[in-house]
Amino acid sequence: MLDGKKIGVVVLAAGKGRRMQSEIQKQYMTLAGRPLITYALSAFEESEADEIVLVVGGGEEDYVREVILRGKIPGKICAVTAGGKERYHSVYEGLKKLTNCDIVLIHDGARPLVDQAVIARTIRGALTDGACVAAMPVKDTIKVADDDSCAEVTLDRSRLWQIQTPQAFSYPLIREAYERMMADESLQKGITDDAMVVETILHCRVRLVEGSYENLKVTTPEDLVVAEALLHSRG
Ligand code: CTP
Ligand code: MG
Repeated sequence: MLDGKKIGVVVLAAGKGRRMQSEIQKQYMTLAGRPLITYALSAFEESEADEIVLVVGGGEEDYVREVILRGKIPGKICAVTAGGKERYHSVYEGLKKLTNCDIVLIHDGARPLVDQAVIARTIRGALTDGACVAAMPVKDTIKVADDDSCAEVTLDRSRLWQIQTPQAFSYPLIREAYERMMADESLQKGITDDAMVVETILHCRVRLVEGSYENLKVTTPEDLVVAEALLHSRG
């Protein structure tokens, strides 16, 4: 199925973790006995991916290599590199380190529960459609509020999806979209994920593929409790 296609992965861990309000950044916190960031790295190590770039905060590269990865950089990690201020800056730094791949998966390092089935579906999605994201149906009703915190409209839940990572793309496609965005600051406003970059800049259709409700993004303290419980339930 892969037909000799090379798969690159950008794992993002250059955020500040402000909403976690913890002393050490969430990606380096201990989760069920090991640093949170190592779970996503292990998942991609076990997958069909060929190369992984780990993007960390500027100045944290040595700490990550020595303390978090304990000096033994696992086989597929080809670079530990510094990210930037916004998530899209970090993605761009990661993309530039991957030069020899056909497909790239971009993953939030703060999603430790990504599994092989989700990774495989996003790889297949990128091979067939060029651009895809892991997504799940929204469970709650979603309303848009006005400036006064009053409900303005209620969105049709049957069409709402929560978007996860991995987000997977043909490498030339996402690289082109990012090059254009980075060259024009006006295109950078409001960008919160990678799919948006190809949607808005290249007007490309992005396929939603099945993610997993377990694939949560550790964002606030209670997410750590849930993530730990899910990891224990997996044994
Ligand atoms: N990220 C990154 N570079 C940034 C911002 C975010 O690599 N400049 C990464 C985070 O490390 C995380 C992922 O993107 O793995 C998703 O971001 P988010 O959950 O928002 O993490 P933080 O930005 O660290 O947290 P917060 O928004 O609460 O500060
Ligand atoms: Mg953030």
